[in-house]
Amino acid sequence: MNAPHAPLSPLTTGSASLQHQWLPFTPNREFKSAPQMFGSAKDQYFYDLDGRPVLDAGSGLFTTPAGHCRAEIAEAVHAQLLSLDFSPSFLRAHPKSFELSTRIAQLLPQGIGKLFFVSSGSEAVDTAMKICLAYQRAVGAPGRTMFVSRERAYHGVNFGGVALSGMVNNRRAFSNIVHGVVHMRDTWLEENRYVTGQPEHGRELADDLLRLILLHGAENIAACVVEPIAGSTGVLVPPKGYLERLREICTAHGILLVFDEVICGFGRTGEAFASQSFGVTPDLITMAKAITNGAVPMAAVAVADHVHDAIVNSAPDGAIEFFHGYTWSAHPVASAAALAALDIYRDERLFERAQSLSGYFLEQIATLAELPIVTDIRGYGMLAGIDVQSDGKPGRRGHLLQRKLYDAGLHLKTTGDCAIVAPQFVFDREHIDQTVDVLRNTLLSFGA
Ligand SMILES: Cc1ncc(COP(=O)(O)O)c(C=O)c1O
Repeated sequence: MNAPHAPLSPLTTGSASLQHQWLPFTPNREFKSAPQMFGSAKDQYFYDLDGRPVLDAGSGLFTTPAGHCRAEIAEAVHAQLLSLDFSPSFLRAHPKSFELSTRIAQLLPQGIGKLFFVSSGSEAVDTAMKICLAYQRAVGAPGRTMFVSRERAYHGVNFGGVALSGMVNNRRAFSNIVHGVVHMRDTWLEENRYVTGQPEHGRELADDLLRLILLHGAENIAACVVEPIAGSTGVLVPPKGYLERLREICTAHGILLVFDEVICGFGRTGEAFASQSFGVTPDLITMAKAITNGAVPMAAVAVADHVHDAIVNSAPDGAIEFFHGYTWSAHPVASAAALAALDIYRDERLFERAQSLSGYFLEQIATLAELPIVTDIRGYGMLAGIDVQSDGKPGRRGHLLQRKLYDAGLHLKTTGDCAIVAPQFVFDREHIDQTVDVLRNTLLSFGA
């Protein structure tokens, strides 16, 4: 395999050239002493600065299921930049984002037909929280200001999302700012160890929502926010009946149900949205990641018509109904990229491809269970989590694993001591075999 373009020049100035950028979620000092960088990408591969291929088994960061550097997206972006590079998103608009909202609405579950565009998953989550508060106020329940979330959740890094999150490192320094968020237990259970697909046990964990209602009063709770599959925390697939039960409780108590589908959205579970894979329709869905196949930042909140209408129709004529928005909301270039990405997903039937490749993918990943270092494997659709035995300091081994994988020619994300595999939908079986081989050999290199 050759790099699609000439490799970029090596870092000629050594550490001096790296000193001004502060990298997110990265040990900066380690990175700068031994950087692991990508210089280019094409289809299923990244290429490092020397042109060495690195198979992308993480779809970038869950962003790029259609493969890298798709000409159709590049051309759409180029044309958009030459025709309308920017349009203010307040009081003005442009046709592309309306076209995009229509296209996404066609993919969404029935009844969820309004799209509010933003630029990141974190913005989508905080926007969804505000929509929930605005809705409760509009329907005469302004006292409903609390949110129920879940342990081991990841809902981005803005203050609302951090308060919802259930991962301690993300919370410990920042979670005291936004109050009124309470957490259900996560859905990991010993009995479900090594189960791929939806586990049998754990439906009753949804009754944590009832306990929180009993403790705090439904009249104080605006919404329950969950990832259908908790992704970043290591792929916790909802037990059978769990999401249904959450839906039932929310409906009975006037609580909005929000699915954070920032990772799941656009085919990761084999359907356009996890909501459809699991047959449960929430009131709001957040989405980001694959909306433009990773080419341009964009995200959105999909809102049930009844929620949107309650907010919009409760405002006086001529008034702004929702005091919220971003300079980059519905950016024309991002809209053009998203439309081109959706065309690719449709024309190449990539969600169906994800669905049909999933069986083989999960079967092959499951073979890693025989390695002594592996302590659990979970998965659904084109997403799997592999837990490795801690070396005593949580996260250290997982971190070393992803560095070793890069050196061995494989890219994926680790969280703590869990490797998260999220193959591109354009993978062939050989790419899955290659992923599993590199994982196996790298895991074996740790010894027992
Ligand atoms: C479920 C979920 N919500 C929100 C986010 C935050 O998205 P972003 O990093 O685009 O702000 C993520 C990111 O991984 C996510 O997985």
